[in-house]
Amino acid sequence: MNFIRRKSLIFGSAVILLFVFFQRNGFAGEDKKVKELQRGKDIYHERCAVCHGVDGNAMLPNAPSFAKGERLDKTDKELLQTIRHGKDVMPAWKETLTEKEMQVVLKYARVVAGDNVFQEKCLKCHGGAFPKLRTDIPDTKALTNFEGQLDICRSCEIEREMTKEELIEVIRYLRTLGK
Ligand code: HEC
Ligand code: HEC
Repeated sequence: MNFIRRKSLIFGSAVILLFVFFQRNGFAGEDKKVKELQRGKDIYHERCAVCHGVDGNAMLPNAPSFAKGERLDKTDKELLQTIRHGKDVMPAWKETLTEKEMQVVLKYARVVAGDNVFQEKCLKCHGGAFPKLRTDIPDTKALTNFEGQLDICRSCEIEREMTKEELIEVIRYLRTLGK
């Protein structure tokens, strides 16, 4: 009896710990865009990371590193064409993934750099929910020519430790999440 109770206690604690872990590390919240990008991230980890790297730094020579923006200057139309039909050692995905799944995984590949920045610089304080950018933060195109302090987070000093590229990537990421 005691033995069984102890086992269920251990099991119960494990479930709670896992829950807390996913709350902190996964995408919290019910937003549609957040869920969609999480789906893209899951597919990316399952199907693409072996070659393109979990954090978007390629494991396979010749595979583009999305974290460095490689190939991302191409349009969605061009990139989806390769994802559907494959190229060289890059497999074709059209038999395995739906059109929608290919779109969301590409969406994630486009912001994997920003996800990395968020994990490294923001998650420790913003683990519960994604922060909403102020409306006066310029769009990512205008940011390329922007000089000076953005004050992206008025409640912390993190911007001082960030390069302009990191700022642009994290802003693109948060905007993709509808933030
Ligand atoms: C077996 C290794 C491998 C896997 C798995 C893989 N890729 Fe690739 N991928 C490559 C290589 C190598 C290239 C470069 C192909 C070339 O241009 O010759 C590439 C290129 C690409 C490109 C650039 C296409 C272009 O037109 O320039 C995209 C986008 C891409 N992969 C997305 C994905 C996605 C999304 C997945 C998962 C669903 C995936 N890849 C899985 C190896 C892989
Ligand atoms: C040391 C803790 C801390 C870190 C690190 C941090 N934030 Fe914040 N941030 C806060 C707090 C506290 C608030 C105010 C409460 C809230 O909105 O969650 C806030 C608010 C925000 C807001 C709401 C609008 C505003 O300007 O206040 C945005 C946007 C934001 N943070 C973005 C970021 C981004 C992006 C990063 C990572 C690059 C980051 N924060 C890192 C603590 C932090």
